[in-house]
Amino acid sequence: MLDEISEIARQAGLLIKSCSVSPNKASEKEGKGNFVTEFDMKIQRFLKEKLKDLIPEAEFFGEENGEDDMRPCRLAFVVDPIDGTTNFIRDFKHSCISICLLKDNLPYIGVVYNPYLDEMFCAQTKNGAYLNGNPIRVSNMGLNNSLISFGTSPYYIDKADKTFETAKTLFKYAADLRRCGCAALDICYVAAGRCDLYFEYTLSPWDFAAGSVILKEAGGIIITSGYKELDYTKKCAVVASNPVIFKEFKNLIDF
Ligand code: IPD
Ligand code: CA
Ligand code: CA
Repeated sequence: MLDEISEIARQAGLLIKSCSVSPNKASEKEGKGNFVTEFDMKIQRFLKEKLKDLIPEAEFFGEENGEDDMRPCRLAFVVDPIDGTTNFIRDFKHSCISICLLKDNLPYIGVVYNPYLDEMFCAQTKNGAYLNGNPIRVSNMGLNNSLISFGTSPYYIDKADKTFETAKTLFKYAADLRRCGCAALDICYVAAGRCDLYFEYTLSPWDFAAGSVILKEAGGIIITSGYKELDYTKKCAVVASNPVIFKEFKNLIDF
């Protein structure tokens, strides 16, 4: 199943790479700077058709369905056809396809594919996490000299103060900060030890579900506000981290 889902993500990646979009062809959705293009819709249609062929009984929740929350159900695909739409529109070449298969509302399989670097991150619960077939593991770096990434929750301007306060607190200890514009890849980069911790104050399940399987299987921790378990059917704040820096983050930040 993991291989079949990865192959579908790879095909969708070819579609992304074959599209060229100009910033003035994007339409705005609700919230500041929240864009959608004909390609987000086209790739979502492609993924829905292929994933429904693979598991007909699974529900399909895609970012472009227009629903904010998801219904709890036994089997469901949670999909972001293009995570990093602003990067895509601006030809920044840092976007991905994110596909999660939930079983009883908990992530079971996660696939995140970056077509620009041909990097396929994937994991199945209890089977380890892989990048292009090679096992990946979180770093064991503490806060000092760490590399921290964060998301700005760009569509929720009310989160700006909290976001930048937390970023400023962490910046005093870290080697540096990154804001890359693609939440699913941010989480996978923590899983692969390229970054040590990532946080964002509002994400949707299609942004974090696939990455969460990959991160946990790589030895990482992912939680929501109040240091609670994520709810995979709702928007949540998210911290994704290696276990070492997580302890320090918890002492420092009232997340
Ligand atoms: C967004 C990106 C961005 C993150 C936002 C997401 P989209 O997804 O992942 O990095 O900061 O919170 O909504 O809209 O490009 O699919
Ligand atoms: Ca997204
Ligand atoms: Ca998207």
